[in-house]
Amino acid sequence: MKILNFGSLNIDWVYNVDHFVKPGETLSALSVDRFCGGKGLNQSVALSKAGASVFHAGGIGIDGQFLKERLKESGVDVSFVKTFDVPTGNAFIQVDKTGQNCIILFGGANQEITKEYAEEVIKNFQKGDIIVLQNEISSLNEIVDMAYESGLQIFLNPSPMNEKILALDLNKITYFMMNEIEGEAITGSNEPDIILDKMIEKYPKSKVVLTLGDKGARYAEGTKRIACGSYEVKAVDTTSAGDTFTGYFIAALADNMEIEKALERSAKAAALAVSVKGASNSIPLPEEVDNCKLTLKK
Ligand code: RIB
Repeated sequence: MKILNFGSLNIDWVYNVDHFVKPGETLSALSVDRFCGGKGLNQSVALSKAGASVFHAGGIGIDGQFLKERLKESGVDVSFVKTFDVPTGNAFIQVDKTGQNCIILFGGANQEITKEYAEEVIKNFQKGDIIVLQNEISSLNEIVDMAYESGLQIFLNPSPMNEKILALDLNKITYFMMNEIEGEAITGSNEPDIILDKMIEKYPKSKVVLTLGDKGARYAEGTKRIACGSYEVKAVDTTSAGDTFTGYFIAALADNMEIEKALERSAKAAALAVSVKGASNSIPLPEEVDNCKLTLKK
């Protein structure tokens, strides 16, 4: 079974600030750093670090070649990554003293993905293979349709949530990897158990992983429900915590790990990512996950 991640690659500009800038305010940042990011790139790095073989497809500009290098160094196959004659996507990220962030995205080359390019990539994969998707690239609708027609298992992280996600035929999704905000946008509820019930009611063939930050994660499949606690850490930067969880979880499933264990391992990896500044660079190695002494809060 092969894993393809068709997803964004961004240059992340991270500004550490006392508080998020307010309308009309000019705020001095405490520091600025440049990191390799993008939900797609982060998830591919997490998948690879967690032990999976992963192919990444997506777009960068000339100014973003170092992102491709970053994927390569992390063990990701980059033969499908394409360079376009436009700037690389980038993210302007404010991180406050509590480690929370807010992000402005510029799509750049991530928005150059066409149906034709997607077809060229997807024809290399077959029934049963996994495709991982987020919502930071163009032609997402066409990619979902093509992947479904090819019999791929579609893992969708519906992030960032917007009308493009709501316009997809979500019945085609094998696995939703979502948080409460995304769950609420699809189901109208902000209560985790209700989100899961409504998701299964609307999409009975799908499986749902709902991440709840410091309240852990939940899993739903038919009538089955599994709850996982969280690991307490001092939050330095929450950027890429969800991506780390997603990558570790899919790698664990591909390795036939049982769901309870996969949830716990992914939650631990995400907790470690939160304790380090940055995006893909904060994703831990499996030995760091195995050796860390964090305890699970039920
Ligand atoms: O999920 C975190 C990512 O979201 C950042 O790396 C940033 O690039 C945005 O895409």
